Formats: sequence, C-alpha cells, structure tokens
Amino acid sequence: MLSLALATSLFLGPVWSHLSVRATPSFEDVCHQIQGAISNASAVYWLGSTLYNKGVEHYMTSSEQDSACVVEPGTAEDVGAVLKIVGSNRTPFAVKGGGHTGNPGYSSTEGIQIAMFRFSEVTYDESAQTATIGTGLIWDNVYEALAPHNVNVVGGRVTGVGVGGFTLGGGYSWLTNQYGLTVDTLTSFELVKTDGTIVTVTDSSDADLFWALKGGLNNYGIVTRFTLKTFPQGQVWGGLITYTASHLEDVAAAVAKFSANVTDPKAAIITASNFLLTQPGVSQLLFYDGPTPPDGIFNDFLDIPHFTEDVDTRDFISLVQASPANLTAGQRSVGIFATVPVPTLSANVINAMFNETVFWGHKLQLDSGTFISYDIEHFLPSILTHNTSPSAWPPTRDTAYIPQFIYYAWLFEFEDEKFYDAIRQSSAQIANVAKQEGQKGVDDAPPYPNYAIFDTPVELIYGDSLPRMRSIKATVDPDNVMGLAGGIKI
Ligand SMILES: Cc1cc2nc3c(=O)[nH]c(=O)nc-3n(C[C@H](O)[C@H](O)[C@H](O)COP(=O)(O)OP(=O)(O)OC[C@H]3O[C@@H](n4cnc5c(N)ncnc54)[C@H](O)[C@@H]3O)c2cc1C
Ligand SMILES: *[C@@H]1O[C@H](CO)[C@@H](O)[C@H](O)[C@H]1NC(C)=O
Ligand SMILES: *[C@@H]1O[C@H](CO)[C@@H](O)[C@H](O)[C@H]1NC(C)=O
Ligand SMILES: *[C@@H]1O[C@H](CO)[C@@H](O)[C@H](O)[C@H]1NC(C)=O
Ligand SMILES: *[C@@H]1O[C@H](CO)[C@@H](O)[C@H](O)[C@H]1NC(C)=O
Repeated sequence: MLSLALATSLFLGPVWSHLSVRATPSFEDVCHQIQGAISNASAVYWLGSTLYNKGVEHYMTSSEQDSACVVEPGTAEDVGAVLKIVGSNRTPFAVKGGGHTGNPGYSSTEGIQIAMFRFSEVTYDESAQTATIGTGLIWDNVYEALAPHNVNVVGGRVTGVGVGGFTLGGGYSWLTNQYGLTVDTLTSFELVKTDGTIVTVTDSSDADLFWALKGGLNNYGIVTRFTLKTFPQGQVWGGLITYTASHLEDVAAAVAKFSANVTDPKAAIITASNFLLTQPGVSQLLFYDGPTPPDGIFNDFLDIPHFTEDVDTRDFISLVQASPANLTAGQRSVGIFATVPVPTLSANVINAMFNETVFWGHKLQLDSGTFISYDIEHFLPSILTHNTSPSAWPPTRDTAYIPQFIYYAWLFEFEDEKFYDAIRQSSAQIANVAKQEGQKGVDDAPPYPNYAIFDTPVELIYGDSLPRMRSIKATVDPDNVMGLAGGIKI
C-alpha cells in the first residue's frame, strides 16, 4: 500500500507542478534575461568565444563544464541583478574565483557560469594596515600589487590559486604559523545577498554573518571584496628542491625531524611526495620569512643529494611562483583532492604518506593515473590562536588539526569511481596509522573544506557550527538561492 501511494504521488508530482508553475525558461533564455538587465560594466559570453572559454576554465577538467553562457559581472549591483534572475527562475549557476576546486560542480555548471574576474581591485590602506582585494583575483596578483608597499597578506602558497574560494574556505598560507588562517585576518566582506542587496559585513555590523562567512564558502551569497589585515613583508628565503626515488627515506627523516623540532614561526615547508612517469619523487618547498634562515633549520634538506635546486633569497612572489603547481595544470587532466586532518605530523604519518604514494602510484599507473601527490603539510600547534574573533570553520580551535592533502590526476572520466575509491581508501589508511599510534580525535577532526572530497559529510566539516550556520542562512538567503550553485551545502 505504502509503495503504491508513493508511486502514485511520484507519478502525479510532475503533472501537478506543471499545472502550478509557469513554464521553465531555458538556460539560454535566462542568459538573455541577464544580458538585458546588466549595465555596460558587465558582459555575457557565449560558447565559441575566447572569454567564454576563460570563464569556464578550471585547474582540472573534472571541475569544468559547458555552461549555457558565462557572465562576467563588473559591479556588485550587477551581481545582485544576476542573483535575482537565477533565483526567480530557479536556474542552476556557479560562482568561480580562481577555479582551483577539485570537486565537480562546485564552481562549474551547465547553467549560468558567473566568473568574477572583473573584481580585480587591490587597495592598500596604510593607516588601517589593511588591503581590500577583489574576489576575481589570484594571489599572485595580490602579492605583486602589495610588494611596492613592503606589506603582504595571508594568502596562497603556490601560483594560480584564487582569492575567492581560498579565503571563504579557511586559507593555509606560508604566513599561517605567524598570523593564523586567512579567515583570521579578515576585517570586512562586501557581500551581495540573493535578494540583490549589497552589504558590508564586519564584526560590529553583523557579528553572526561575519562569523558564518569565515568558512561558509558560497552558502550566503556572492562576495565581491575582502578586506584583510596586512603585515610587513621583506625578502624571503626558500624555493623548490626535488629529489629522486633513491632519497625518499632521507627526506622522510628530515621532515620528521623538522616537524618534531622546529618551532620558529617564520619557517615552513611542504613536502610533496609524488608519483609521476612510473617513478616516485619529492618536490620539497622551503620557506623562511626573512632573507637568511637561522643555521640548522633547513640543513638536512639541503644536504640530501637532490635532482634540482632553486633555493635562494628572493621576493615573496618569486617564491610562490617557484612551485611546480603549473606543471599539473598544464596537463589539463581529470582530478580529485582528499584530506586527512591529523593532530600531529608524526614520523609514522609521514612514512605512511610516502608508502601510500608508492603503493597507489604503482597500482593506479595501470589505470590512467598520470600524477599522484601526497602533500605532507606541517604547521605549528599554535596556528589557531591568532584570531581576534571566532569563525564558522574550524568549528573547534581546541586542537589545530593539520590538513594532510592528497591529489590524484588521471586521463579518463570513465575511471572516476576507481580513483575516488582509491583516494578514500588511502585517506583511511593514513588516518588509521595516526589512530594506531594513539593520536586522539582523528575520526571527529573537521576536514579542511577546501581539500575535502565532495561527499564528506557537512556535519563532520562544520561540526558544532552547523546549527548556527543554518539559522543565519535562513535569514540571509531564505529561498536558498545559493542552493542552485554547487559546493559544500549546509
Ligand atoms: C595547486 C593548488 C594549490 C593550493 N594551495 C593551497 C594552499 O596553499 N592553502 C590552502 O588553504 N588551499 C590551497 N589550495 C586549495 C584551495 O584553497 C581551493 O582549491 C580553493 O577552492 C581555491 O579557490 P578558488 O577561488 O581558486 O576556487 P573556485 O573553484 O573558483 O571556488 C571554490 C568554491 O568557492 C566558491 N567561491 C569562489 N569565489 C566566491 C565568491 N566570490 N563568492 C562566493 N563563493 C565563491 C565557489 O562557488 C566554489 O564553491 C590549493 C589548490 C590547488 C589546486
Ligand atoms: C556606460 O553607461 C554609462 C551610464 O549608463 C555611460 O555614462 C557610459 O558612457 C557607458 N560606457 C560605455 C563604454 O558605453
Ligand atoms: C630533534 O633534533 C635533535 C638535535 O638535532 C635530534 O637529536 C632529534 O633526533 C630530533 N628529533 C627528531 C624526532 O628527529
Ligand atoms: C601558470 O600558467 C598560467 C596559465 O597558462 C599562466 O598565465 C601563468 O603565467 C603561469 N604562471 C607561472 C608562474 O608560470
Ligand atoms: C603500505 O601501504 C599499503 C596500502 O595502504 C599497506 O597495505 C601496507 O601495510 C603499507 N606498508 C607499510 C610498511 O606501512
């Protein structure tokens, strides 16, 4: 009986809604509506044009879709006009900053692709020690614009990463050991709400929304500007060293020693254990916030025989662009990220990440795996103590879980499930190693939203923040217009 009733209601559902709802316009019709509503500061681009291609382009092809059109809004008012049109038509859309998410549909869509490029301002306020930056920029642009003032902001570590998603999800920087996450340096947002209104959100204007936007990604509207605290920035030291397969154990030991011993907040590393072209290898990034590091901190890394070395005293932007992040973008392949949050980057966890690289590298190259990377990340336990106000993410600051990062790239979409399964198994293995040696809280640790694979439960990511985030959402976007855009949905 029950199933019959269900079947009847399923059958009648579409008929009833057809009677009560006016005909849905095509995505193209909605593009035309937008074209008619926006000012001459904005533009709509169609399939076949160069700026359409630029608008839908992403770091990985898996987070790239053919959209009905690309809209490049040039004013916050026009962002509001677009949101009202997609909202009233219930048309799927996407908001793209730098296009660096790993997850399909998070900043891509078959509907209306909003590309934020025209929000490209960088304004330094010397008296306030802040910078206001547009959400269409990549961090490279921001660093270049601030360098003449000898100041910097807490942003991305490698070339090409977008300001928009990075900041709204949290933000782990070369400067995080000194100043905290990017969200901890925010003083103001300019937000376009789904009713088309433009609001400046600060701790004093709206403490709830200010809190929720810090980690809440695209759940509350479209952010057009961030104001971030600035910090003095001189020359830095560091860059990239690469090692071949024969030195993996030495590198693992050097990372373990660094993790256990180094407490200087100006020092930071990322160790990318890679499997590329049938071989494991390491891309080691070194960073020191000063022209010369104190003796001893990085000696082990420099002493291991290396394949290439590009380490020097240099400008901050030069260090950011010394990373090999563009190599993988150049491949234009399908890909996915995953993350394992650990309380401590122990020798066992480090060794497990190297072992996983070799194990899955050999296995997945038999499929169409082209590049797999386990980025061993190190941060000080104090990184979550630099905030002056709370944030939606991380939901707890009792422990600074360190987000270990995994990235797989492959050629053929028909193999997606195989690679998703592999990266989940591998993440679980690393988490198990941490649990087996007695690390606490690994199962409940909130995964970093910007690294988490798409089906990570939202309850796990936002934890105790979720009920408050939801009640704020109900007042800011009561019709859930932002639900028409993909992403981590609360
Ligand atoms: C090579 C590489 C290096 C990375 N390095 C780091 C690192 O050092 N530290 C770190 O913390 N993370 C890092 N990441 C992860 C990075 O934070 C995420 O990929 C993040 O999504 C990038 O932001 P984006 O604007 O480029 O992404 P997009 O794909 O454009 O957007 C991601 C999400 O944010 C939303 N969004 C973007 N802009 C807006 C806006 N203006 N208003 C509302 N919603 C918006 C989108 O809708 C989407 O859901 C790296 C990623 C890559 C690929
Ligand atoms: C854009 O519109 C404004 C006012 O509507 C007008 O003053 C300006 O000249 C226009 N600019 C261009 C490039 O058409
Ligand atoms: C920390 O450094 C000391 C001195 O170099 C060294 O003896 C010790 O083994 C290091 N700790 C780890 C865990 O590597
Ligand atoms: C990375 O690639 C992009 C796109 O091809 C290019 O515009 C950019 O200059 C490159 N960056 C570096 C540091 O090589
Ligand atoms: C290496 O990884 C594989 C796959 O996760 C696992 O089965 C194996 O036990 C690991 N070996 C070591 C020495 O940790």
